[in-house]
Amino acid sequence: MTVKEIFESMDYGPAPESAAEALAWLVDQGDRFGHFIDGDFTNPGAHAFESRNPATGEVLASLTQATQADVDMAVAAARKAQGKWENQGGPGRARYLYAIARLLQKHARLFAVLETMDNGKPIRESRDIDIPLAQRHFYYHAGMAQLMEGELPDAQALGVCGQIIPWNFPLLMLAWKIAPALAMGNTVVLKPAEYTSLTALLFADICRQAGLPDGVVNIVTGDGAVGEMIVAADVDKIAFTGSTSVGRRIRQATAGSGKAMTLELGGKSPYIVFDDADLDSAVEGLVDAIWFNQGQVCCAGSRLLVQEGIAEAFHAKLKARMDKLRIGNPLDKCIDIGAVVDPVQLQTISQMVAANTAGSMHQARIEMPSQGCFYPPTLIEGMEPSDPLMQEEIFGPVLVSCTFRTPAEAVEVANNTRYGLAATVWTENVNLALDIAPKLVAGVVWVNATNLFDAAAGFGGVRESGFGREGGWEGLSAYTKPKAKTKPLKPVEAYAGEGAPVDAIDRTAKMYVGGKQTRPDSGYSKPIYNRSGALLGHVGLANRKDVRNAVEAAAGAKGWAKTTGHLRAQILYYIGENLSVRADEFAQRINAMTGKRSGASEVEASLQRLFTAAAWADKYDGQAHGVPIRGVALAMKEPVGVIGALCADEAPLLGLVSVMAPALAMGNRVVLAASDPYPLAATDFYQVLETSDVPAGVVNILTGTPSDIAVPLAGHMNVDAMWSFSSSDLSREVEDASASNLKRTWVNNRQTMDWSTDVTRRFLEASTEIKTIWVPYGE
Ligand code: NAI
Repeated sequence: MTVKEIFESMDYGPAPESAAEALAWLVDQGDRFGHFIDGDFTNPGAHAFESRNPATGEVLASLTQATQADVDMAVAAARKAQGKWENQGGPGRARYLYAIARLLQKHARLFAVLETMDNGKPIRESRDIDIPLAQRHFYYHAGMAQLMEGELPDAQALGVCGQIIPWNFPLLMLAWKIAPALAMGNTVVLKPAEYTSLTALLFADICRQAGLPDGVVNIVTGDGAVGEMIVAADVDKIAFTGSTSVGRRIRQATAGSGKAMTLELGGKSPYIVFDDADLDSAVEGLVDAIWFNQGQVCCAGSRLLVQEGIAEAFHAKLKARMDKLRIGNPLDKCIDIGAVVDPVQLQTISQMVAANTAGSMHQARIEMPSQGCFYPPTLIEGMEPSDPLMQEEIFGPVLVSCTFRTPAEAVEVANNTRYGLAATVWTENVNLALDIAPKLVAGVVWVNATNLFDAAAGFGGVRESGFGREGGWEGLSAYTKPKAKTKPLKPVEAYAGEGAPVDAIDRTAKMYVGGKQTRPDSGYSKPIYNRSGALLGHVGLANRKDVRNAVEAAAGAKGWAKTTGHLRAQILYYIGENLSVRADEFAQRINAMTGKRSGASEVEASLQRLFTAAAWADKYDGQAHGVPIRGVALAMKEPVGVIGALCADEAPLLGLVSVMAPALAMGNRVVLAASDPYPLAATDFYQVLETSDVPAGVVNILTGTPSDIAVPLAGHMNVDAMWSFSSSDLSREVEDASASNLKRTWVNNRQTMDWSTDVTRRFLEASTEIKTIWVPYGE
């Protein structure tokens, strides 16, 4: 090209980044890789697979498919290293994390080039986004290690963490997983995705250079079968990022195992453009939302919702912009769109688009590379919210769009998805933006920006986008557990009897559903005896239909989530006051059922639990995270939604109140299964609720056999979280059934909680989701 021609076209010339250093590093390693276990690379194994550059098809290296023995060895090395790593203390660990961060900085270009060659993403992205964010994650969490003992005195490491990551941000996802785990004193066995393992292996080299103790980081390579081995291994936690279907499988596979879990899954995130938005910025935002990393981004703004009045003009601008995107050699610094990760993914995208019959399609009119895994930027407009491509994750550079008329309709369409990862709102009206952001069902909301990430801001989803947060203070709980001691779970048996009633009146307690006392659908009840075998009363046996009615009642009581903490505090105080008036009666009831004399102290502890939850209702605040932009990332605490819980058998009133009060304080509705052997305190308790201004449906109380209630409740699609403290240990059943809609779970796993210590903080945390709302300001 002559200078004259360049001036005439104003086109970018090619500016390719050299691959030489990265290729040399691969040659240095012998082009054949084993795993990184106990501080050393193992020899390449017998079963090898190739890692290819998707832009060219060239083979970059040969990798080893891990065997069971490899995984066992890695887990054993991590286990052996863990105690010492944790016990050296946070400041000691911080030094290693700083060292890793510095080495990542020092070798940033090598990492960026290798990432681009292995994954196909444009070098501009790997150089300016992936690698700097990975460094930032290690710096940030070095700080968290430093602060851990002072700021999180009740937290300790989980132990060994199994971590399985995807191929879309290979090094960045590794950093998101490894940095917080190490900071909190855990050791890890990490499996990169089979398409993109090279930067993980380069990272292993960095760990060696940093002098990280052997076994703290272990990396094994291979496909989903190796992932399954890690899931089944003797690890204390599984952290997974990937598809919702695999996430669901992992949930089922670990059910009842006691392994902690975080899942960061798919999405179909809405990108909402209101008619007063700065349209040019919104178009530019879309380039970052859906064409960043070829749309292979879990939080990609893949569903465009445009206000009707501007739809035509906006789509015209968008198409013009699409036609200016540059696709091609990812190592070229002028390239906007690189290669899709693998021919398999390219085929998935092509097939999904080919199968679509809805809307009208525009594919960027740009010159496509003649070879390699490339897919053109694509827009399909005029869709209906229910069209398959508006619902399913494509994970490619394909944007689907529809229009809306009013803000309320925008929210409705935006939330019409089984996912809840992220959302973007464009409007110049601050009132509108801040009205809409809390209404969107998503873990992250960007206002007039998109795809902003930082180590200081939590990231993660709700609904079937998974659970747990990565980043920020909130991300640390995913890698710690409380120091609280627990005891092995002992089944609490009901007393048997002969049927002689303690008084002459027939006392068959009803259940409490939707603010009403209801008879069980089954028509059956069971007797409750005291220690000497005298009949105390009967309770109904809930069945599937009672569970359904209770969940419907709870789901219908949505207004509770919108009440103020101030109001909820007053109602909780009121419940406390009304309980305190009847304290003696409840104490006697508890003594009669349990045959112990702990009734009075249990009622007193329950009162304290109510008052403590009331106190927190307007004080369990969010945070404003300092992120490196002009703006803030607000960590807003929102209620989880409908929480189902099997209450503790051993503490018939305190177990129920400890669960209910914090959940209510945070704006949740609950469906509670009363203590199985001692249910009568719960059925008395709804009389207290009835006189305490608790709106109908906010608290629902069922009685009956826990196993009959557990599975329908845990499997119900309208329940958002499920807890089990039942002494019949239903952890496995609950977690297995919870996979239906990937609800959050908290189960006792053969351990008894000490209900006499104040557990309110833990319940407040479990009762809230953190939504991160990014609000940039200025020009
Ligand atoms: P995937 O979920 O199968 O792979 C992610 C990771 O999980 C990889 O390391 C893989 O080896 C591992 N894995 C696969 N099966 C496993 C199992 N049974 N047990 C344990 N680990 C297992 O994702 P895949 O097949 O590569 O992509 C398919 C679709 O998943 C994409 O089209 C996209 O829709 C979605 N996806 C979403 C991601 C996200 O960040 N949310 C990332 C990658 C894929």
